[in-house]
Amino acid sequence: MKKLPVTNVRTILLVFLMMVAAHTSVRASALPFAETAEQHEARMEWWREARFGMFIHFGLYAIPGRGEWVQWNEQIPVEEYAKLADQFKPNFDPDSWAATAKAAGMKYMVLTSRHHDGFSLFDSKASDFTSMKTAAHRDFVAEYVTAVRKAGLHVGLYYSPLDWRFPGFFFPDLQRQSAEAMREQYHRQVEELLSNYGQIDVLWFDGGETDWLNFGGDWVAGAGWKKRPKGEHYKGGFSWQHDEVYAAIRRLQPQIIINGRADMPEDFHSREGDGALGNFDNEHPWELCTTLAGAWGYQPNRSPKPLKDCIQLLAKVAGRDGNLLLNVGPRPDGQIDPPQVQRLREIGEWLGKYGASIYSTRGGPFLPADYGASTHRDKTIYIHVLKWPGDKLVLPAIPAKVMSASVLGGEVASFSQTNKGIEISVKPGEVSEVDTVIALALDQSADGIKPIAVNAK
Ligand code: GLC
Repeated sequence: MKKLPVTNVRTILLVFLMMVAAHTSVRASALPFAETAEQHEARMEWWREARFGMFIHFGLYAIPGRGEWVQWNEQIPVEEYAKLADQFKPNFDPDSWAATAKAAGMKYMVLTSRHHDGFSLFDSKASDFTSMKTAAHRDFVAEYVTAVRKAGLHVGLYYSPLDWRFPGFFFPDLQRQSAEAMREQYHRQVEELLSNYGQIDVLWFDGGETDWLNFGGDWVAGAGWKKRPKGEHYKGGFSWQHDEVYAAIRRLQPQIIINGRADMPEDFHSREGDGALGNFDNEHPWELCTTLAGAWGYQPNRSPKPLKDCIQLLAKVAGRDGNLLLNVGPRPDGQIDPPQVQRLREIGEWLGKYGASIYSTRGGPFLPADYGASTHRDKTIYIHVLKWPGDKLVLPAIPAKVMSASVLGGEVASFSQTNKGIEISVKPGEVSEVDTVIALALDQSADGIKPIAVNAK
């Protein structure tokens, strides 16, 4: 046999190694994702500017209408719950969802591609419990992604690594094989979601924290299930191997923005519920998710929050430098309850007039207090006066000159600026019960002004 020249051997070896590398699952190559602070800022830019998005909890749980935790809360056996899939044939119309989100002034959407019940709204080789392989025979995620993109909005997917169908979630050590099967499903499904639907802008994890295993408790011999005390972590032998998923995410969709509920480096932090509004933070990106009508998954007869509450919440979030992800839970037929659609339209109408004080702004420099909150862009500071302390608002001094003050979309406001502070008042007719937005035009960019506390009561 003719001997191969050395160079050919090298080439063959190299090609072989490249082929191996290409076929090696990402799991073997958990490479770190290197990014400078500037690159991170640039990747987060659209999200920062968006400020307002729609969260959608939709799945089998819409049928009983008692929320997405119904299976757990009512201890419905897994096989019993699974029967809901036989009835799940919604008149799924993601174009109308996207139109509603747009009308509300929202810039991105996040859909539960799979919640804790394990039912996937997408075609998956890793599971049979999907909308594709049951009554609906549709890949709802595919349809949703197409509709959201078409509407010009950014596409987000929620995904729960934990799956109640696996005893391994409840007993990760005792039921190790089951826990590993659950992990396998998680790794494969994230890979599917990020490979099969084009660009995904947000991946929103829920319940993937190691400390969430068995709902944050342990089985203690002789004592039964005990919640782990605060600060104590899961010490068992099971691992989600999130670092491998993280490497896959960054390989498949390096631009994607992820939250921090799966113990991997987060692009933004999730705050949950109205009570978690929290403090001003303009360093680490964050998002408040909460409900429009008091429920995540559909529950009948839930009235939407009053318009005033919605607008004030949005202003408070933007003024704290965060994003608001407002949730709707469509009915089993796929429609969002009309009163909620109506409220979303009203929010959109408000944003149509006052959007300049929300979109593409950053929070501050006047820190939130009883009076309300403030945002800024370029040389303009927007004061969101949610509660007038009296006839005038007194703000602390800032190292910039106020050139003019006016009610956004309205008349000029009176102001005086000294080295002690700024006093502002508007005509009584200009006061809004919801949010009096006052634009202060400065002689310089407001970006350089440090956040400053406001004592106004
Ligand atoms: C909680 C709940 C879940 C909901 C989520 C939204 O973690 O478990 O049902 O999807 O909050 O943030």
